[in-house]
Amino acid sequence: MGRRVAVLTSGGDAPGMNAAIRAVTRVSISKGWSVFGVRNGFKGLISGTIEQLTTRDVGGIMQRGGTVLGSARCPEFMTVEGRKLAIRNLNQFGVDCVFVIGGNGSQTGNYELNKMGFNGIGIASTIDNDLVGSDITLGVDTALNIALEAIDRLKVTASSHQRAFILEVMGRQCGYLALMSGLAGGAEAITMPEVPTDPEKIAEVVQAAYEHGKSHALIIAAEGADYNAAKLTEFFYANKERLGFSIRSTILGHVQRGGSPSAFDRILACKLGLGAVEAAERGEYSVVVGTIKGEVTTTPLADIVNKTKGIDIEMARLANILD
Ligand code: F6P
Repeated sequence: MGRRVAVLTSGGDAPGMNAAIRAVTRVSISKGWSVFGVRNGFKGLISGTIEQLTTRDVGGIMQRGGTVLGSARCPEFMTVEGRKLAIRNLNQFGVDCVFVIGGNGSQTGNYELNKMGFNGIGIASTIDNDLVGSDITLGVDTALNIALEAIDRLKVTASSHQRAFILEVMGRQCGYLALMSGLAGGAEAITMPEVPTDPEKIAEVVQAAYEHGKSHALIIAAEGADYNAAKLTEFFYANKERLGFSIRSTILGHVQRGGSPSAFDRILACKLGLGAVEAAERGEYSVVVGTIKGEVTTTPLADIVNKTKGIDIEMARLANILD
């Protein structure tokens, strides 16, 4: 009898998760294994909402955003009792390995499960790109392109009205999306959780843009920065006389997570799905599968939990030079 494995998506959904579910399922089936899909992340492991997936079940999902299995944030899984229930349910289905597609919180849950003796393999997936063990995580490319489309549109209306726009993008602990969308979108200034903001300096940049005859100014704020959109707007309003431009702000929020995955994310999902199943075949558990320098790699979960990948400071320097 072939092996029995399970797959789930957990935490914030990310474009490309469906393509990863499809890859894990089809590669496993190609090896003669049975695959079980778990509904709503760790929640479904605890409630036993698990069903077998066939090749056809994962057909036509590659281009869809979100996750057909559903996802959840599940505090119950952080308790030993919750995980015991999960292991009991997995044992009842005869499953010996679970693939966890998700970001930091999800891989921490995966690690705790492994520590209790159940085999798990992570697939690095979060739009935040804050996971150690992968240069780029599943969903980042699509989220970045969505942010960029919003930036391009905002710049059009900003120019028509000679306004400064603050655009808040996602990223609770990591400024990757803010930095890269700011760089690619030609922002005048960027705020990030990793770098303390001097709002006075940003006001000076906006004022200088006005005085140099620019038709607009754009500031990208990460949601987790000390100066997010709300705080920056407050500061700007208090200083509006000297800025020149009038101020508007937009919060992009979950719009960034809902898109159809880009070609890059679909291809990455295929590669990570294959990498994860091959790790299971080798018996290499308690790892996260990601890419480092373009190569599919495995990194022990023990080395990635409770860590947040930092931003590339060179990119921040470049964004500053180019504004
Ligand atoms: O971790 C991905 C992410 O989109 C973060 O950027 C954001 O802070 C968070 O999830 C939002 O979480 P939720 O969807 O639970 O509101």
